[in-house]
Amino acid sequence: MTARKKLFLKTYGCQMNVYDSERMAESLKDYDQTDRADEADLILLNTCHIREKAVEKVYSELGRLRDLKDAKPDLKIGVAGCVAQAEGAEIMRRQPLVDLVVGPQSYHRLPELEARARGGEKALDTDFPEEDKFDHLRRRPKAARGPTAFLTVQEGCDKFCAFCVVPYTRGAEVSRPAERVLEEARDLVERGVRDITLLGQNVNAYHGAGPDGDWSLARLIRELARIDGLARLRFTTSHPNDMGDDLIAAFGEEPKLMPYLHLPVQSGSDRILKRMNRGHTAEQYLRLIERIRAARPDVLMSGDFIAGFPEETEEDVRATLDLIEAVNYGFAYTFKYSPRPGTPAAERAQVPEAEMDDRLHRIQALIARQQRAVQDAMVGRDVNVLFEKPGRFPGQMVGRSEHLHAVHVTAEGLEPGVVRHVRITASVTNSLSGELRG
Ligand code: 5AD
Ligand code: SF4
Repeated sequence: MTARKKLFLKTYGCQMNVYDSERMAESLKDYDQTDRADEADLILLNTCHIREKAVEKVYSELGRLRDLKDAKPDLKIGVAGCVAQAEGAEIMRRQPLVDLVVGPQSYHRLPELEARARGGEKALDTDFPEEDKFDHLRRRPKAARGPTAFLTVQEGCDKFCAFCVVPYTRGAEVSRPAERVLEEARDLVERGVRDITLLGQNVNAYHGAGPDGDWSLARLIRELARIDGLARLRFTTSHPNDMGDDLIAAFGEEPKLMPYLHLPVQSGSDRILKRMNRGHTAEQYLRLIERIRAARPDVLMSGDFIAGFPEETEEDVRATLDLIEAVNYGFAYTFKYSPRPGTPAAERAQVPEAEMDDRLHRIQALIARQQRAVQDAMVGRDVNVLFEKPGRFPGQMVGRSEHLHAVHVTAEGLEPGVVRHVRITASVTNSLSGELRG
């Protein structure tokens, strides 16, 4: 029997990368994961290309691995994720330490690439193959899981927002067949999962093949909700133009679909939305939220904003602040615009750095106020909490409310995976605390 090897896997970026990393780790059957790079036989960086100087960060991270490789010549180093896709063979040219480069659509080929790298080859795969990579990324049988899990149902994007690199790194929109998703969800539930977040770069455009034609995301959610033992469903990330009537209705009709929706708008200015190639106006976005709230009045909205998109003026920023006021977000994320090579916006007149910082801070301050007020408004209410893990203090358990707020409760006999009624008693910086009700 061969000795087991050790894998150090570092994940950057979005939840989809977290999901991909889990699948990659499971596919490397001769490896156990370690959190110490210095004892690893294989180091894999699962990279993100969405913002900032992602490529340079990867090269400097790789540079720091030189000593480890010198000390242990058998150590193999691999780069996965969106920087791998964007850079391809250039990574191996610029950094000869790298043995393996694998793009997000080729992870099912990782065991073979690892074997080739082990044999002394430089192994590279950044194709966009036709097959479903997750079919080949088999899970280890029946390993127990915590109560929450991500499940990728869709990848890639055809929207081509002018700032975004995703359509280039993750490719065109592809949906996994519905039966595969159902199978994977049933397997997760058998292993202890109670709360599943469906993932996709444009998840609400899901249109996977079903036994009776293509299924929408709403149909998929309705079928998933029939799985006994599954308590909660969420999905992320969505584009406003793909919020179909059936999906909006599902918020009112499907009790397992949680009242939480991440629906990025990026800007509140129609002029900027047009330049971003978003395909909708601020007014259309606000009307859409009205319809969602008509279906489920307590839905908690979340979003993404970009501060300092090229040619953005003070008036545009005010329009964004007005839109945020009108929506009242429970959570939202603001990013400084970062020019991504190869995207149309990178060629345009950039907003000066100091202006960008100022706008970022103003938008963030407004969102922080809203977020806190939405959280504070939970005090005194009874909510359902799905408990996940022990908290920092003895006897304490932490879970999530239906609206995704973290909730701390100190009580006897709470196990991960149980859902209980909790009376919220206090709101602190990033969480709520409460007491069991019955
Ligand atoms: N610059 C800044 N933010 C960006 N995002 C995507 N591309 C860029 C970029 N070039 C943000 C968007 C998106 C989120 C995932 O990242 O807000 O919704
Ligand atoms: Fe990028 Fe999202 Fe726009 Fe697609 S919809 S191009 S993933 S920001």
